[in-house]
Amino acid sequence: MQDILNQIVNRPAGHSLPPRCYTDAAFLEYEVEQILNNEWHCLGRVDEIPEIGDYFTIEVLSEPLLVVRKSASQIAVLSNVCRHRGMPVAEGAGNTKRFRCSYHAWTYALDGKLRSAPLVPKEQLDKDCALPEFKSHCWQGFIFFNAAIDAKWHSDESLDTLCAHLQNYHMQDMHSAVHFDEVWDCNWKSLVENFMDGYHLSVVHPHTLHHLTPTSLCKKVDGTEAYTAYTASHASTAPARKSHHPSLTAAQVRQSQLFCIFPALIASVSADTLVYLALHPLATDKLSVKWGLATYEQDLSEAELQQRIEKWQQINAEDHQILKNLHKGLKSSRASTGPLAEQNFEGTLADFYRYLFMKLGLNNENNE
Ligand code: FES
Ligand SMILES: [Fe+2]
Repeated sequence: MQDILNQIVNRPAGHSLPPRCYTDAAFLEYEVEQILNNEWHCLGRVDEIPEIGDYFTIEVLSEPLLVVRKSASQIAVLSNVCRHRGMPVAEGAGNTKRFRCSYHAWTYALDGKLRSAPLVPKEQLDKDCALPEFKSHCWQGFIFFNAAIDAKWHSDESLDTLCAHLQNYHMQDMHSAVHFDEVWDCNWKSLVENFMDGYHLSVVHPHTLHHLTPTSLCKKVDGTEAYTAYTASHASTAPARKSHHPSLTAAQVRQSQLFCIFPALIASVSADTLVYLALHPLATDKLSVKWGLATYEQDLSEAELQQRIEKWQQINAEDHQILKNLHKGLKSSRASTGPLAEQNFEGTLADFYRYLFMKLGLNNENNE
């Protein structure tokens, strides 16, 4: 491990991370211990579970989770592991009054409390037997969870500037239309960097994005230890968005805001569409990606919605293909670090590295 950490610290100033940071299994384990197990991970959107009893299941870093609306105003993130002998108590998504384990039929209320345990004497049971609840937080319509017992949500100062930057888009009021669960063949950091790098837009997406948000119009936004962001302005030839929140300025109507809440929620919001990708690492080269699309319009026609979904499926397929190939290159014995492009195009990567170094306790000098 120490040799990779030395490689990171000793790489030339303003360079990308050493390739082994993306390919070495021990380094991923180290990241999980030092960073990911103590961080806030996005699980999806609040309006996926609007009614009491609505739930969905998801696995993050080998932790099976049950996300449930337990009351009109409260969402709980519960351990999806039966207190009897460890079976996941729910699968998929749906609506229920109680969760019934499929193994021996123990049942749990929406808040995780045990309701019945057939044929087990009462005195055998813990008095407060329940599915453990994790720390969770809702921000701008996103549901986050943190596995650390003493986790605290980000300080106001660390997200204030991003909130101000995004507030006119009213993301919390956008309507979730669809989400997909996929497995991508790349390292989690590669996808964070790719999404936050405006440098590749015109090259990787010549037909899907170049005519809308060309690389040349990308502009970095100041970040903090909690996020990085950039603005992708729309080309003058790009069609104007027909519907949008009235509070957006004329400039904002013609922009997309791309941001990453560290470590692994990446999203793009424009006047009429929010697309997010919640990344959950599986291995150095395998990544679970829950990605979803929400719209400003509540009553978008099926045809228009389909068009937006297909466009983003295409964009994501282009990125996935690039990142699959990138991973092959990163595994080469000759792969090395390389210089980053100027601030507006890859400055977000320097923000991401700054965050990683802070979490790994590394000297930041070579980052700038
Ligand atoms: S493991 Fe759930 S009831 Fe037995
Ligand atoms: Fe891309």
